[in-house]
Amino acid sequence: MRTYKILDLFAGGGGFSTGFLNASHSHAKFEVTKAVEIDDDACNTLISHLGEDKVLKGDITCPLIKKEIVAECKEVDVIIGGPPCQTFSLIGPARSGKREVQDSLKNDSRNTLYRHFFDLVSEIKPRFVVFENVEGLLSKRFEDGLTEKEKMAIEVISEQLEDLGYFTRTIDGQGSGFKTLNSLDYGVSQKRRRVIIIANRHGIYNPIPLKKDLTKEVPTLLSTIGELPVLLPQINTNGMEKLKKIDVVLKNLDKCILSFLNNINELDRIYKNRPEINNEQFRLLKNYLNDSYLVTKNRKHNGLEFLKGFCEDYNKLAKQFNSSSEIPCNMTLHQSRKHNFRDVVIFSMMKQGSTSSGFMNQNSQDFDLLLDQLYPYDKNKHTDTYVKHSWDKPSNTILAHMQKDGLKFIHPNQPRTFTPYEAALIQSFPKNYDFCGGANSQYRQIGNAVPPLMSEAIAQGILMTLLNYDLEISK
Ligand SMILES: C[S@@+](CC[C@H](N)C(=O)[O-])C[C@H]1O[C@@H](n2cnc3c(N)ncnc32)[C@H](O)[C@@H]1O
Repeated sequence: MRTYKILDLFAGGGGFSTGFLNASHSHAKFEVTKAVEIDDDACNTLISHLGEDKVLKGDITCPLIKKEIVAECKEVDVIIGGPPCQTFSLIGPARSGKREVQDSLKNDSRNTLYRHFFDLVSEIKPRFVVFENVEGLLSKRFEDGLTEKEKMAIEVISEQLEDLGYFTRTIDGQGSGFKTLNSLDYGVSQKRRRVIIIANRHGIYNPIPLKKDLTKEVPTLLSTIGELPVLLPQINTNGMEKLKKIDVVLKNLDKCILSFLNNINELDRIYKNRPEINNEQFRLLKNYLNDSYLVTKNRKHNGLEFLKGFCEDYNKLAKQFNSSSEIPCNMTLHQSRKHNFRDVVIFSMMKQGSTSSGFMNQNSQDFDLLLDQLYPYDKNKHTDTYVKHSWDKPSNTILAHMQKDGLKFIHPNQPRTFTPYEAALIQSFPKNYDFCGGANSQYRQIGNAVPPLMSEAIAQGILMTLLNYDLEISK
């Protein structure tokens, strides 16, 4: 068995490495020599999967750390990494030419990390380099592909690799060796576009990651997270009186609680045979919501005080309900974040696959007057703040921004946003992959990652190319 060694720079929570470790052949495999990362939680995640000796915690720009990397990784076959950089969004004025692009990459302080990646490549001289980046693609403008300027930036990066003695062309002989990959093509139930450049020092054509045959089964949210037990959110009762649109909530309290109740009844209908639904805790919770609705319908309540009491009682029942489910995974990862009551109502009322721009648009079939009135943000600035996903479709790109809020990631039928565990499964991390740190840090590590299945396709191509090359040479 041949073992090819990799160095993972800017390793995050280890998505890229995981894909490489999963690539396999009966005569060859990859092994991580070092994964370098600056963030404490991400390092702990890496340590728990790779072992302490494989993780180098530190700042790649620090000369001592760089020296250590070079000393310990002289023998690596492949350097992989996605340096966080502004490569694609910083290229200056619209008509900027190649020279400006080169200068921006070279001189802009925000591109420092990218330069350190190349320094290490030039010192270690691995056989293969995989450079991955995402900047710019997150922007809607680029959904249909790269802009001219982005292409130019990648060409400049490819040329820099060529100056270091690397061959960047892919086996189809096209262009300057970069590819934009969409994780959907690799069996990931998520739209996520990444730019990669594969380059090698042997002067051979670089492999193109092989797409999965998806004619039989296209991964959807249902196939990825549909089996997880129903999980209900806790409602945040702090500062309720200052919550934006609390006046609309209180004026329509009966309708708000009814929408929430309708959502719970829907879960009852759909999942009636599941143990967590067919039990006493769920019945108690449902009855409580029903009774509360009747009180509000008959206007026998005192507004805010009633709502606070309602949420507190609901929280206790939801906690009992959640703990009665058998969660077949790490409990800390499959925890819903707390939501405010207004958002829980919005989540309950939204249709699967709809967005807030739809429910606020009078010409849309998703238009809803109460939802329109509940929308708490400046409608002139953002309209697509809330996105409710569909069971029968893949997810939108899982973002590190989920650490701030998850409103663009509303569960298809539960009144909450995706848990870190759901986000990790959508990113195609193995079911037992754990992430260290608190929920925000977990969301960040997950959202930053290269989906392991996509990484595996990249790795598989490189593994075969290395093996074939070595067998040929040894003949
Ligand atoms: C986009 S994420 C990488 C994700 C990773 N490739 C994966 O698949 O999971 C970039 C990572 O670079 C790390 N980072 C940023 N600056 C760094 C530095 N100066 N030295 C080392 N790591 C750094 C960040 O903490 C972050 O985890």
